[in-house]
Amino acid sequence: MIRQSYMRKALLVGGLMLMFPFSVRAEEGLTRAEVFRQVEALSALGDSLFHDPSLSASGKLSCASCHDEAHAFAPANGLAVQKGGATLQATGHRATPSLKYLQAVPQFTEHFFDSEDEADESIDNGPTGGLTWDGRANTLAEQAAIPLLAPFEMGNKTQAEVVAKAIKAGYEQKLRAFEPFLKTTSLFVVLTKALETYQQSWKIFYPYTSKYDAYLAGKVALSPEEQLGLKLFEDPAKGNCASCHISQPGHDGTPPQFTDYGMIALAVPRNMELEETRSVSSYDLGLCGPDRQDLHDRPEYCGLFRTPTLRNVATRKVFFHNGFYKTLHDAVAFYVLRDTHPDRVYPKDTHGTVMRYNDLPTQYQDNINKDPPFGERVDNNPALSEKEIDAIVAFLQTLTDGYTQSGP
Ligand code: HEC
Ligand code: HEC
Repeated sequence: MIRQSYMRKALLVGGLMLMFPFSVRAEEGLTRAEVFRQVEALSALGDSLFHDPSLSASGKLSCASCHDEAHAFAPANGLAVQKGGATLQATGHRATPSLKYLQAVPQFTEHFFDSEDEADESIDNGPTGGLTWDGRANTLAEQAAIPLLAPFEMGNKTQAEVVAKAIKAGYEQKLRAFEPFLKTTSLFVVLTKALETYQQSWKIFYPYTSKYDAYLAGKVALSPEEQLGLKLFEDPAKGNCASCHISQPGHDGTPPQFTDYGMIALAVPRNMELEETRSVSSYDLGLCGPDRQDLHDRPEYCGLFRTPTLRNVATRKVFFHNGFYKTLHDAVAFYVLRDTHPDRVYPKDTHGTVMRYNDLPTQYQDNINKDPPFGERVDNNPALSEKEIDAIVAFLQTLTDGYTQSGP
């Protein structure tokens, strides 16, 4: 039954997510058709704004410069971090994520209880959800303000500066037209809402058109290698990947998002490429700062980052929050080598000692996740062989959208 209804369910989830924030307006006397028309128009405006470099201090950087549709809304280049700011020379310290499949990211909470009907609802899954690597934005509109105002991204100093640029670029009338619908007199609010609505266009941002979706819908078979990869991905004694990157549809047929949105410390190696723009003693500690400001006094949260979706992961050129890994094979190998062969993961200091977990200060290293495939093993053999890693990579390649029977 799940199979037959699978694609229908995928589309339904998409449509509902888009209409939900506006459904309340329908109750206020606007017809459904009118609400739908306004949402479509707002989305079209968001599309223009998303691709418009005139909203940046440099005049050269749009959202799309870093989030390229042809690359699942991640960068086209292979840089660990993108360049931005007024002269396009500034850099942050985080890899640019894909913007696809963010529609179901729950609001950030420190105590997440799973409401999936097969899950045990009494289990506290700990900090979960929110947008960006550290979950510090709860809506796409709130999130859009971050790059517009970040000195190393679009580089505006104030919201007023963003609005002034939008007016200069000819958007005033179009933005004002949505003030009644959005019940606001702030053009900055309209602008960020438009960007949000565009990013909720399911046909573009969550189409569920991967080979794996076709497989779940019963339309195509996986190759023997992909099938093996899926098995290893799900097997708790092998990859155990699916314990965080959920791979099976929900009880009601909801398509898997390949994440449980949990915040986890993996201790990815420090990316020395970023060293020139930050001091040797500064660390990106994710949930406890410094980008995120509200959980500074929570040492148990230092080093935690949000589990990303693995949909379209094979189109990425850099992996993890700091972009340390450059190939999917190496990114997967990290999981099985970290605790069995740390010398193959971390650099050595001048005395030849392996600098284990070198991007997380010692006092926070208890936060590091040790679930399989991590952890030391009796025989010290990695949980996955090279061939098995290749199979998982082959499986991950089935998660790329745009699959047709003749090829991905
Ligand atoms: C200079 C490159 C750059 C530009 C320009 C940029 N972004 Fe991003 N984007 C990033 C990076 C880096 C992150 C991760 C930020 C973090 O974790 O703190 C990100 C994160 C996001 C996220 C959160 C994704 C997730 O997985 O939670 C969204 C949504 C997003 N950007 C939308 C936008 C929008 C909308 C714009 C234009 C207003 C934009 N971005 C402009 C680099 C960029
Ligand atoms: C305990 C939860 C957990 C398990 C188990 C897990 N992951 Fe992850 N995964 C994460 C988190 C958290 C991140 C982001 C961490 C960061 O950037 O610091 C991540 C990131 C990734 C990335 C990088 C994605 C990107 O967009 O940069 C890949 C690839 C990946 N995981 C694949 C796997 C595979 C394959 C397995 C099984 C061998 C696996 N993961 C097991 C939690 C988990």
